[in-house]
Amino acid sequence: MGLRGIVLLLLALLAGAAARAPPRADCAAGNLECACAAAGGAWHAYKPPLEPVCTVTILHQDRERTFNIFLPRAYDARAQKYPVWVHLHGVYWASMDDISARMGFTVQATEATPMWDTLSTGPYRDTAVAVYPQALPPGGDAFKRTFWNNPFWHCSVDVCADPSIDDIGFIEKVFLELPARLSMDRKKVFLSGTSAGGMMLHTLLCSSPIVSHFTTAAVDLIGGLGESMRHTCRDSHHVPLRIIHGENDTVLHFDEACEVDGVRFLSTRDTAAMWKERYGCASEPDAPDVWGDGITTCDALCAKKGLLELCRMRGIGHQLDVPTLGYPFTAAWEFFKSVAGMK
Ligand SMILES: *[C@@H]1O[C@H](CO)[C@@H](O)[C@H](O)[C@H]1NC(C)=O
Repeated sequence: MGLRGIVLLLLALLAGAAARAPPRADCAAGNLECACAAAGGAWHAYKPPLEPVCTVTILHQDRERTFNIFLPRAYDARAQKYPVWVHLHGVYWASMDDISARMGFTVQATEATPMWDTLSTGPYRDTAVAVYPQALPPGGDAFKRTFWNNPFWHCSVDVCADPSIDDIGFIEKVFLELPARLSMDRKKVFLSGTSAGGMMLHTLLCSSPIVSHFTTAAVDLIGGLGESMRHTCRDSHHVPLRIIHGENDTVLHFDEACEVDGVRFLSTRDTAAMWKERYGCASEPDAPDVWGDGITTCDALCAKKGLLELCRMRGIGHQLDVPTLGYPFTAAWEFFKSVAGMK
């Protein structure tokens, strides 16, 4: 991290510490509504198929921004510190899977995607707190394509993100505010992103000393890196990173560069190679097959430091529901557990 990064980080830490006093943690175990209030959030007791959620609203650039928190069902801030898993959603619109019609209201990305990702329903839900920052829907209309204002990719099909939106600063603010709102284990803070969220994850690791300082391990799931970033990606803290991508992805290709919405993207392989260089492992041979589960096979690109893995999902395209709903999150979780030394 350069001097600029250190100064930014210190300023941010001071601002974060001043922002809120720690919450009073006198809620009974499993009283999530109480824990949500202690976190400064509003509790929404949604019916299935959605999960109940705690929504926190913060101000950034004089705009109201939200992030959703999913607490383990037996959450007890008095007794335990929890791993926190921050996830950046991909492109979303409110008619996906007919979810808004089924619920009878306009469902936001961070209400629906956690269930499809299985972070609010899967085997990790009672171990880690899941945190979902919400991108701003274009013109406030969640039925339009909703995604991040990423410096290297900000238009999706016919919709462009408002160029004045500072999503990097917003996500930094979420990271800074979490410790005061949750009983969290600061040595177990995980970051993942899917598709457009995976793109944003690379942008954050390239440009945010705050996010890379707080992140214990990161996983890009079917995201990508714009070619323009290859040379502007700044030296960041070396966050252990696993990149998981489908070998049959025809949107962002594993082995070939491609163009999406007029933006040139590196292949997944070259994205991993860029990080290998950043992490100072360029001369190290790759170690094949360091992890696998029958669908995904991972190579270590920086084996001595164990920091960087490139994983190929066999027979899988630009999807998160093959072979099962939310499958690749289980491969992300295995990485997080191994980096953080969890069972
Ligand atoms: C997926 O990609 C692999 C490797 O490129 C190829 O061998 C296989 O035929 C592809 N499968 C499909 C269904 O396209």
